[in-house]
Amino acid sequence: MTGRFLAAAAATAVLAIAGGPALEARPAARAALPGFTPQETEAGAQIYAGACAMCHGKDLAGTYEVPPLTGRFVANWSHAPARDLHAYLRKAMPLFAPDSLSAEDATRVLAYLLRSNGLVLKPAPAPRKGADPRLEAVIAPGPMRPR
Ligand code: HEC
Repeated sequence: MTGRFLAAAAATAVLAIAGGPALEARPAARAALPGFTPQETEAGAQIYAGACAMCHGKDLAGTYEVPPLTGRFVANWSHAPARDLHAYLRKAMPLFAPDSLSAEDATRVLAYLLRSNGLVLKPAPAPRKGADPRLEAVIAPGPMRPR
């Protein structure tokens, strides 16, 4: 119960920062979900295996010292623009080599993390022109699927 409460609180906090109910508007725009190709997601899985799994675990479960990339991760990033997670991955991960992921590789890992958590992208109300529409979109819980 406490966990669920915290998750809801975290999601609400992120939602508030990201602009709140405005993101829920425009049902027509939400119909067209931007997505990643299976190739991108598979490439992301390989990058994860090579550069992330040694800390976060093959199954994304984390350790005592390293946060999981499931569960709490979903609460932390749901309702955030994908570009925020992308920027975080580039500037902070892998922990021992920040700034080492290319923009493309960060996009691939992001695709893998979303797929692993059953997260989807919702089109943003006001995407920036010229930017990757997938990264402009908002991370959202989707129908849960097994990994
Ligand atoms: C050397 C160990 C290590 C490696 C390698 C590593 N991480 Fe991390 N990661 C951490 C630690 C420790 C934190 C917590 C950082 C903090 O709290 O500031 C973290 C935090 C994160 C978070 C934030 C989790 C959340 O719930 O907000 C994400 C996302 C993440 N890592 C993804 C990755 C990805 C993707 C890779 C591979 C490209 C990677 N990490 C590689 C140790 C690592």
